[in-house]
Amino acid sequence: MIGKDIQKAVKILKNGELVAIPTETVYGLAANALCAKSVSQIFRAKKRPTFDPLIIHSDSIEKLKKHIAYFPPKAEKLANHFWAGALTLVLEKKDSIPDLVTSGLSSVAVRIPNHPLTLELLRNLDFPLAAPSANPFGYISPTSAQHVETMLGNEIPYVLDGGICDLGIESTIVSFEKGEAIILRKGAISIEKIEKLIGKVTVKLHSSSSPKAPGMLKSHYAPKIPLFIANQNQSIKELIKQHEGKKIGILSFEKEFPEIEAEKQRILSPKGDFSEAAHNLFAYLRELDAMNLDVILSELLPEKDLGRAINDRITRASTR
Ligand code: TXA
Ligand code: MG
Repeated sequence: MIGKDIQKAVKILKNGELVAIPTETVYGLAANALCAKSVSQIFRAKKRPTFDPLIIHSDSIEKLKKHIAYFPPKAEKLANHFWAGALTLVLEKKDSIPDLVTSGLSSVAVRIPNHPLTLELLRNLDFPLAAPSANPFGYISPTSAQHVETMLGNEIPYVLDGGICDLGIESTIVSFEKGEAIILRKGAISIEKIEKLIGKVTVKLHSSSSPKAPGMLKSHYAPKIPLFIANQNQSIKELIKQHEGKKIGILSFEKEFPEIEAEKQRILSPKGDFSEAAHNLFAYLRELDAMNLDVILSELLPEKDLGRAINDRITRASTR
C-alpha cells in the first residue's frame, strides 16, 4: 500500500514491521535498526545475502553518536558539511547495533537522509532505521514509490510516498583508516566535493564476493535485458550494426540516434547536465527494461564529478 501517512508508518515500524521510505537518493526499505528480528525481514523481502551490511538512518548526529564508538575528526567535518545529505560514513560501532545490521563487522554505516517526510518520520521514532535500497537484491534501485510497490509491494505493508527522488543515485560511502578517508562507493556527492573539504582521499572500491561494500558486487543495478556499453573501440553506431535484426533500446547521455525509433531511446540529459542524468538514470533503465527489447545499448559519461558514479552504475548494469 502506498500513502503519505507518517503516523501509520510510525506505527508499523514500532510494531517491528517494514516500511519503504523516500530519501533524496533512492527509496530505502526500512526497519528498526536496533531489533534484529525486524532487520531480518529486510534481508528476506529483498532476498539479500546477510553478508551485505545495511546503512542506518537517523535525523540527528546526537542520536547517531549513541551508537558510534569513535567519530574521527575528518568524519565530523564531512558530517557537519554534508548532512542531511547523500553521504554515508562507516564508523566504529557500539554494541547497541545488532551484528545482523553490520554482517558481523565492527563498523556501522550511518547517514542522515535529506527528505522532509523521512526526517519527520525519524523525529517520531526513538530508534534509527536500517535501510538498504528498496529493490530486490541486484536489481535497479527504486527512485519512486511506484517502483517499490511494483517490485516489492507484496512483501511490505507500507510505502511512504515522498515523490520522485531528487538525486537519483545512492549516497557516497566513506570509511576511515587511521583517520584518513577512503571512498568505498562512488555516489551522489562527488569525490571532487569531498576532496575540496578534507583534501586528497583514497578510492577503494570492493569487488570480491564477500565485499566490504557490496554495492560493489560485480553485477548490480542490473536490468533483465542484456546491456552493452559503447567504448573507444566500439561506438553506439557500431554496436547498433552488430545487433542488427534485434529489438534495440538505447540509453544515451545527450543525443538521439536516428537509426533507432525515438520511443526506444532514453536520453539522460539532452543539455548534458550530470545531475539531471543521475536523476533520470534508474527510472530510464527500468523503462527500457519493461519494453520487451532484446538488448539495451548504452554509453558512458565523461569520467568526472557525478559522471563517475553514473558510469559505475551503468557498468555494473552491463553484461560482461
Ligand atoms: O543512498 C543510499 O545510500 C541508500 C538510501 C536508502 O539511504 N541506501 C543504499 O543502501 O544504497 P544499500 O544497502 O543498497 O547499500 C549500502 C552499502 C552496501 O553496499 C553495504 O555493503 C555498504 O553500504 N555498507 C554498509 N555497512 C558497511 C560497513 N560496515 N562497512 C562497509 N560497507 C558497508
Ligand atoms: Mg542497493
